[in-house]
Parts: sequence; structure tokens; C-alpha cells
Amino acid sequence: MLGRVRPSLSDYQHLSAGKVRELYEIDEKTLLMVASDRISAYDHVLATPIPDKGRILTAMSVFFFDHLALPNQLAGDAVDERIPEEVLGRALVVHKLDMVPVECVARGFLTGSGLADYQATGAVCGVELPEGLVESSRLAEPIFTPARKAAVGDHDENISFEAMIDVVGRDLAVKLRDDTIDIYSRASMLVADRGVLLADTKFEFGLDPAGNLVLADEVLTPDSSRFWPAEGYQEGRTQPSFDKQYVRDWLTGPESGWSRDSGTPPPPLPEHVVEATRRRYIEAYEMISQQSFDDWPGGDA
Ligand SMILES: Nc1ncnc2c1ncn2[C@@H]1O[C@H](COP(=O)(O)OP(=O)(O)OP(=O)(O)O)[C@@H](O)[C@H]1O
Ligand SMILES: [Mg+2]
Repeated sequence: MLGRVRPSLSDYQHLSAGKVRELYEIDEKTLLMVASDRISAYDHVLATPIPDKGRILTAMSVFFFDHLALPNQLAGDAVDERIPEEVLGRALVVHKLDMVPVECVARGFLTGSGLADYQATGAVCGVELPEGLVESSRLAEPIFTPARKAAVGDHDENISFEAMIDVVGRDLAVKLRDDTIDIYSRASMLVADRGVLLADTKFEFGLDPAGNLVLADEVLTPDSSRFWPAEGYQEGRTQPSFDKQYVRDWLTGPESGWSRDSGTPPPPLPEHVVEATRRRYIEAYEMISQQSFDDWPGGDA
């Protein structure tokens, strides 16, 4: 950084904190989106961060923004001079958008809240599905299952396509649905080639000042998607998570002394779980992007 000094994080106004990310304002048109190393599991943000997780997820998002080649929120690259040194590699400069208040979810497999809705009603978000599907069933074709953002701490609420039309109008709803399925399909093909199943994923879109639809937030990261190892995939049981399985296994195993329904926060993770999980995130990024994580900005080297 010859002669140029990066701003410090405290130069920007802090706008909001999510479970794992922080949003700052650079100027009235531009935001700094910072991914932390926090990890959540079983609806808890864990006390122990996973070193480099923020950089790895940022790298994945950027990889997919580039790969998808659609209008997206990026207003600079990963070393943009507006990014403070202290968050280099885990922050992105993005255009501030008028966010569509619906989360656009595509599912190619049945699990999580999709499975729960199916078991209760035979449908997910109003999409009727054939009888006899079970945990992790592959769907004949991907389905669009929009959700309304819940207040902090609550689960997002699955809504029908008709309800989405009431919120955003028919034309925009149709476009969002078609784009969501299209992006999901392209991304699943890419990761399938690399031994990974994309069970489902969530996108957020925004409108720019000219009214164009723009892909925003994070895309195709393990925090917005369920990635499963293709090897060993089996219908009828829950699949291991590509990224969080060590964390889940340890938390629910005997060593942690913690129980999911205890209502208490999980204990700190031991070092070997942290390190195995970190390696897993790096492996996911390198497998999917075919790039070396060593080349991503913000490392020690
Ligand atoms: N380009 C953008 N312009 C404006 N807002 C954006 C843009 N991209 C994403 N957002 C919004 O920024 C916020 C990102 O925050 P984040 O995901 O960390 O927290 P959250 O969604 O409130 O909580 P959660 O931890 O449940 O995800 C979201 O409200 C998202 O809709
Ligand atoms: Mg979010």
C-alpha cells in the first residue's frame, strides 16, 4: 500500500450487526459488509470463532458473484482501498440497495423447514409435492420457496408465492422466482462437478436507484446454503453438513456435556474441532472455486 493509508473501521458509521456479519456505511450510496469469524449451530452463535471463516465465506461469495456474471452489488474488489486493513479479506464494498423484503430460497432437496412443511401439508410454500418423499429426498426439479424475514432471533417464515406477490407485485415476484431457480441450477451444476450437492440456498436481491434488480448480500456460502458431500448421500436420513459437521457432532456428542434442548448456550469448542472446521471451510472454498485460499487477501503472509 505504497503511500496510501487505508481508512480505519471507526471512520465508518456502524449500521447493523447480524448473527455473523456487520454492516457499515461508507457513504450514502455505499456500504461495507464485514463477515466475522463467528459461527452458528443449532440456532446459537457459538462462543468460539473459527479463524478465517469470515475471509473464506467472503472469498466464496466473490467467486460466485464473478462466476454468475449477473448484475450484483459489488462496488469494488476484495482489496478496494476503502476496506480497512483490519478487515481486509473479509469485507466487501457494496452498492447500497433498496432490499427486496423477501428471501429467495431455492431447494433441490427436501430438508429443514421444507421437510417440516411438507410433512405437515404435502407442500412447501404452496408448491405441492408428490407423496412419499422423506428426509433429504431429491426433488424432481428445484422449487422456489420464498420466506419473510423474521424479527431478530426469530426464524424466517416460509410464505406462498401468492403471498410474495402481495408484497412485491407479480412482475417482480416472477422475475425473482425465475432468477432464483436459474442461479440455483447453475450453481448446483458447478458444485456437483466438484463432489458437492447444493441442497438449498437463499438469495437476497435489491433494487438500484435506476430500478434494476441486483443480486446482493452473500451468495452461495455455507451460511446461506446447505452443502452436502455427494459421496455417501442417502435419502431417508439427514446428511452430514459439508462445513459444520465436526461442530455439530461435537456439540451433540458426549464430550460437550451439552444438550440441544437444555436452553443453555453451547460450551466453547475445543481446539481440534476449531481447526478441523477451519480446514473444512478452506477445503470447500478450494474445491468449489479451484483457487488457493493462500492467494486470498488478508492472510498473514
Ligand atoms: N447491497 C445491499 N444493500 C443494502 N442492504 C443489504 C445489501 N446486501 C445485504 N443487505 C442487507 O444487509 C443485512 C445483512 O445483514 P446480516 O445478514 O448480517 O444480518 P441479518 O440478515 O439482519 O441477520 P442474520 O444474522 O439472521 O442473517 C441484511 O438485512 C440484508 O438484507
Ligand atoms: Mg442475513
